Amino acid sequence: MKPGTPVSEDMQRLKAMLQQSVTPHLPAAQKEMQILNLACGRCDEADTLVSLGREVTRGGHVRLVGADIRIREIRQARENHAKLPAEFLIQDASQLHQHKELGADFDLVFLRHQNFWHGQDLWKKIFEQGRARLGKNGLLVITSYFDHEHKLALAALESMGMEVVSNKRNKASRSLNDAPGKSVDRWVAVLRPKK
Ligand SMILES: C[S@@+](CC[C@H](N)C(=O)[O-])C[C@H]1O[C@@H](n2cnc3c(N)ncnc32)[C@H](O)[C@@H]1O
Repeated sequence: MKPGTPVSEDMQRLKAMLQQSVTPHLPAAQKEMQILNLACGRCDEADTLVSLGREVTRGGHVRLVGADIRIREIRQARENHAKLPAEFLIQDASQLHQHKELGADFDLVFLRHQNFWHGQDLWKKIFEQGRARLGKNGLLVITSYFDHEHKLALAALESMGMEVVSNKRNKASRSLNDAPGKSVDRWVAVLRPKK
């Protein structure tokens, strides 16, 4: 990704948000990090997530798995991120239980720009499937384009037994013109299963 482009600047802001919101809630001496990115699209954030993982583990082992239902986006993700320790699955994330080899020990389950209000039942299933893949100290992170959609998604996650450990408005979030009140990674929330 070329430095100085809007997307690379979005990534810098996202990285800063994740450093503030996620890193303090992960075990300090972690040597490996497994990250599951659901509904990842072409996964523009792959470098950002791997780089966060390398920071958290101080250069340790990072594994990123991205999944999306759209074939074209996943092919693009595979092409764009061939050099990363990452694999990308063409997969309905609401049916992730069918994917037995994936494992259920992820340190981070990430859903960037979740689409909750376009299909609440579907997204509840996707959230459930994400939660089921969290390891012992695992965290689930959502980012949202819109204020109201973010609130709805958080309420759904809380109703399924998750608690919010961090919820921040990205003040430097880049506005998008295709809908009022829409901006890139406008909100970033971190949740974990209630103990
Ligand atoms: C708003 S886009 C976000 C894409 C990407 N995370 C980003 O931030 O650019 C929502 C994504 O959800 C994916 N999606 C919708 N339903 C899905 C499902 N059942 N399983 C997996 N992905 C799904 C779409 O294909 C799309 O890539």
